[in-house]
Amino acid sequence: MKIGIIGAGNVGGTLGRILASKGHSICFGVRTPQNEKVVSLLTTIAGKACADTIEAAASFGEAIVLATPWMATQEAIAQAGNLSGKIVIDCINPIEMTPNGLAQGLLVGHTTSAAEEIANWATGAKVVKAFNNIGASQFENLTYGSQVASTFICGDDEEAKKVVTSLAKDIGFEVVDVGELNKARLLEPLGMIWIHLAIFRGYGQEFSINLIKR
Ligand SMILES: NC(=O)c1ccc[n+]([C@@H]2O[C@H](COP(=O)([O-])OP(=O)(O)OC[C@H]3O[C@@H](n4cnc5c(N)ncnc54)[C@H](OP(=O)(O)O)[C@@H]3O)[C@@H](O)[C@H]2O)c1
Repeated sequence: MKIGIIGAGNVGGTLGRILASKGHSICFGVRTPQNEKVVSLLTTIAGKACADTIEAAASFGEAIVLATPWMATQEAIAQAGNLSGKIVIDCINPIEMTPNGLAQGLLVGHTTSAAEEIANWATGAKVVKAFNNIGASQFENLTYGSQVASTFICGDDEEAKKVVTSLAKDIGFEVVDVGELNKARLLEPLGMIWIHLAIFRGYGQEFSINLIKR
C-alpha cells in the first residue's frame, strides 16, 4: 500500500521503517526533506522510502499517518492539502509540552478528542485512531512473553478500520476495535497512562497495556 507519513520522528520514522520492511511504499512528509536525520532514516530503509514535502507525501499516500506533535498537527494538516477520501491514521496524544518538559495531562478530552479535532480539520478524511497507546520504542518488538501488544483503534468508517487493522497486524499488533471515532476520548487517556507509567512512575518502556480475555 502507498502510505504517506507526516512526521519522521520516533513514531513516523519507526512505523515507516517497519511498514517498508513489510512491502509497503512509504513517503515521509517533512518540513525539510534534506534534514540530516531524515536522510539517515532513509538510508536505514534502503531505497524503499522517500521524503518530500508534506503536501507531496499526502498526495502520494492512499493512507496518511499523522505523527506530529499535537501543537503542530493543525498546521501540518493544512499543509497536507486535500485529504478528502483518504484514510488518516491518527497516532497523536494531545499532550502538553512546557518549558520544563512533558506536563502530566491532556490538552483536550471529555467532550472532544484530538482524533475528532483532526477529523474536523481534515475535511472528508476517514480518520482512524491507532498506535497511541504504547511507546514507539516498542513497535519493533511487540512480544511480551507469550503475548503481543494490543493497539486500540476507533473510527467511523468500517472499511478504513479494516485497512488500519491489516497494517497494524503487519506491524505485529493485536487489534482491539473500540468503536466510533468519539471513543478516542477514551483512548487518548489510555495513551497518557502508558506515558505516565513509563516516565513518571519508573516502569521504563518495556511494557504494553493489553486487553486480556478468558
Ligand atoms: N514517542 C512515542 O513513543 C509516541 C507513541 C505514541 C504516540 N505518540 C504521539 O505521536 C506524535 C509524534 O511523536 P514523536 O515522538 O514521533 O515526535 P517527534 O519524534 O518529536 O517527531 C515529530 C515529527 O513531527 C515533525 N514536526 C514538528 N513540528 C511540525 C510542524 N509544525 N509541521 C510539520 N511537521 C512537524 C518533526 O519534524 P522536524 O524534525 O522538522 O521538527 C518530526 O518529524 C505525538 O503526537 C505523540 O504524542 C508518540
